[in-house]
Amino acid sequence: MTMRSQLLSNIGELMTQDAEHRVLRNAAVLFEGERISWVGAADRAPAADELIDAGGRAVLPGWVDSHNHLIFAGDRTAEFEARMAGETYAAGGIAVTTEATRAASDQELEELASARVAEAISQGTTFLETKTGYGLDVENERRSAQIAAKVADQVTYLGAHLVPAGADAEEYTDLVCGPMLAAVLPWVQWADVFCERGAFTEEQSRRVLEACRKAGLGLRVHGNQLGPGAGVRLAVEFGAASVDHVNYLDDQDVDALAGTWSAWDGSATSAGTVATCLPACDLSTRQPLAPGRRLLDAGVQIALASNCNPGTSFTTSMPYCVTTAALQMGLSVHEAVRAATWGGALALRRHTGEDLDGKRAVGSIAVGHRADLQLLEAPSATHLAYRPGVPLTRAVWRAGELVW
Ligand code: NIG
Repeated sequence: MTMRSQLLSNIGELMTQDAEHRVLRNAAVLFEGERISWVGAADRAPAADELIDAGGRAVLPGWVDSHNHLIFAGDRTAEFEARMAGETYAAGGIAVTTEATRAASDQELEELASARVAEAISQGTTFLETKTGYGLDVENERRSAQIAAKVADQVTYLGAHLVPAGADAEEYTDLVCGPMLAAVLPWVQWADVFCERGAFTEEQSRRVLEACRKAGLGLRVHGNQLGPGAGVRLAVEFGAASVDHVNYLDDQDVDALAGTWSAWDGSATSAGTVATCLPACDLSTRQPLAPGRRLLDAGVQIALASNCNPGTSFTTSMPYCVTTAALQMGLSVHEAVRAATWGGALALRRHTGEDLDGKRAVGSIAVGHRADLQLLEAPSATHLAYRPGVPLTRAVWRAGELVW
């Protein structure tokens, strides 16, 4: 079957984030159906059914947002206000959201999550992950996973988000590793654990990771967010695809992460543990920003994600994360864009064709990859940092379809 071809041409700056990190001027991209079939100089472009004139503007891969908690109801403005007045974040608010989420109907939860996804798309996101984690009992985690699978590209099981009020931590961990895991399994690809003081201990986290690995899930870890801890070490030990937050790292943590990349040959099978930095969360919780520069310099692959959730980071804006990473984390704009596109894909193992589920790669503009692109209202990606806070997303294509 021949697919309709679209040629996006007259691109002022094309930041491909491909294997060679190419940035092309006066470029064009041809896509047929959902697949990118040609990338190169505009004056050598093949003919197409439809010509789209980029008008000299910049084109980037769509953002790949690899860390979110979108399945929730309720509001935590009061907690945020208290934090801005000097309170510290201690994760207890998860219980507030759990109560509101349990009280919401399936339809309400799906509508709320879909609205958040639409908001993300309008800012250039074309692939996103979401976690469960505000159900915290078997039925509410199960329905959270089922709803998540309807609205997100990949779903992570986070029954191990917080021990619910009144529950015994060891018994709850047994539940997470047993009946709850079995209930969510049809809808999830990944499992995660919040390994932090006040959430799950190293030993409990280890039990969760072991059980989820045995069930065939890929692994991720929330680690080293609120203080030094065992999260990074556990993530490396278990070969997790990512460890997220990474605010408090010592030299051993950084070396351990770097070690996972030393023999990397670019394939999915040899990929190490991505350090996912969440700058919007760091600012909203007044934590030190994750050390993105230090991690990159040590040879660690990093991702940037929005971490949209009602407690620590109520934003879907990947441009905001990229801007912050460039202005405050010591990354160049190119590095920040790479972390928010290809880095996110790497963290979700969708950066090559050798991914978990045999689907097209995302996060870079290369032949054979999914046609996920965004057109900026700017001549170059530098404007994301040069014009902070200005809505620069002009058009978004997801799998070759204009979605915004
Ligand atoms: O990634 N750190 C744990 N989980 C979320 C926040 C959850 C909440 O406070 O509702 C995060 O920041």
